[in-house]
Amino acid sequence: YRMRFGLYYVNFETLKRTPKLSARWFTNFLANITQKNKQKSEIEGAFLEGGKSLSNWDVFSHIPGNIDNGGKADVADDHYHLYMEDMEMMHSLGVNAYRFSISWERILPRGRFGGINPIGIMFYNKIIDTLLHKGIEPFVTINHHDIPQELEDRYGSWLSPLIQEDLAYYAETCFKSFGDRVKYWTTINEPNHLVDFAYIKGLYPPSHCSTPFGNCSVGNSEIEPIITLHNFILSHAKAADLYRKHYQPKQGGCIGIVVHAFMYEPMRDEEVDREAANRALAFKVAWLLDPLIHGDYPPEMRRYLGQNLPKFSLEESKILKHSLDFIGINHYSTLYAKDCIHSPCSSEGHAIEGFVYTTGERDGIPIGEPTPINHFFIVPDGLEKIISYLKTRYNNKPMFVTENGIAQLDRPSEQGGELLNDVKRIEYHKGYLASLARTIRDGADVRGYFVWSLMDNFEWTNGYNMRFGLYYVDFETLKRTPKLSARWYRNFLNNITQTN
Ligand code: NOJ
Repeated sequence: YRMRFGLYYVNFETLKRTPKLSARWFTNFLANITQKNKQKSEIEGAFLEGGKSLSNWDVFSHIPGNIDNGGKADVADDHYHLYMEDMEMMHSLGVNAYRFSISWERILPRGRFGGINPIGIMFYNKIIDTLLHKGIEPFVTINHHDIPQELEDRYGSWLSPLIQEDLAYYAETCFKSFGDRVKYWTTINEPNHLVDFAYIKGLYPPSHCSTPFGNCSVGNSEIEPIITLHNFILSHAKAADLYRKHYQPKQGGCIGIVVHAFMYEPMRDEEVDREAANRALAFKVAWLLDPLIHGDYPPEMRRYLGQNLPKFSLEESKILKHSLDFIGINHYSTLYAKDCIHSPCSSEGHAIEGFVYTTGERDGIPIGEPTPINHFFIVPDGLEKIISYLKTRYNNKPMFVTENGIAQLDRPSEQGGELLNDVKRIEYHKGYLASLARTIRDGADVRGYFVWSLMDNFEWTNGYNMRFGLYYVDFETLKRTPKLSARWYRNFLNNITQTN
């Protein structure tokens, strides 16, 4: 006991621990690092706390120029520390479910190449237990864009089939740790959007491009989007298969995936554009969902891409067809689609593999009221149309609207005191909820609706400018204040539960 290494002095008679000066210094040192670097995707913060490792977004967002206004997500909403307050907010709103994601690098800092981080597990246990205690159902996304940076560095993450093992291992860790209490799982959030932004347009990490419309010098391979989505699909299949075989029978929950699902309308009243709108839906939405429900890529894609589309083995197809209990739909907007096969196409905007051109405007007139985010237009009917498309194509598989909401450049009133007057958000949700009600009356099996989002947060490359929350967050003080929409939503929920 003579050689003492500790930051804390231990009296071996009484076993009392007393901090040495070095302990105080080390605490300050750590606090400084974490103050500067607190970061985690959209709300959590606490970047280097609790044994978490760097995510791909941690690394990406610290590279100047990647995020609007140089917005670092260093603190985000600091939900890691303020989660109790946030749960209280949800409770006071009267919601009966909360959709959130687990941070892969918080519970498996090195993927399957290292151990499980017990502090990370503890954090999500606290969230889940608190929710259940308040009567709020946890609706958990396993992977929402962020991955441990080590998986990017080791083998190129979604470009490699090795990611399938990692995602499955990670998902199984979640089922084992939380599946006794979590009954609604989605494996991956919007893989189709991630492929678009990370491997087609180069806007998200790892910033690869595959079309002339991309924004970067790395990648430039036509095939990368196809490979990465294939890996996403098989990763989901492996995770879902484990769940089906080993966890669902005992735990009794259900599993789905979340698709980025805009609606597409023909640009001109012509057959070629009606076909183009169908092709847009196939290339954007069914690209992900057809394999998971029908066991293969959409015939509309096979027709044009032929051998360039990978094949699923019989065994894979079989597993895929049983891999979804429900579809999670993230819906925000509707765009026009214009034929690019028989008609000349402009080189601007979004071209899907050169077959369709999509845009939010026809002859300079927007398809719906524009919002501050490019390509997000207010078109409430789009929700019932996309749901009806999915209902028909997938035989009315159960659905949840996992995200729907509007970004605004909300500012609190100068005088203070009044609730931030976000009438546009209230109108938006009223319009979309009415559209949802119509499609449910029409027989669509939609089982839930989640507003995006509870509070303002780090909106990826848009940083902090784009505010989606029902609650305003002052990113200096981290104070949360209800907007008018929060009050409206609470009354709305209250009315429904009264009538039901
Ligand atoms: C979809 C994504 O899942 C979410 O992360 C994002 O913040 C919202 N859309 C708004 O763009």
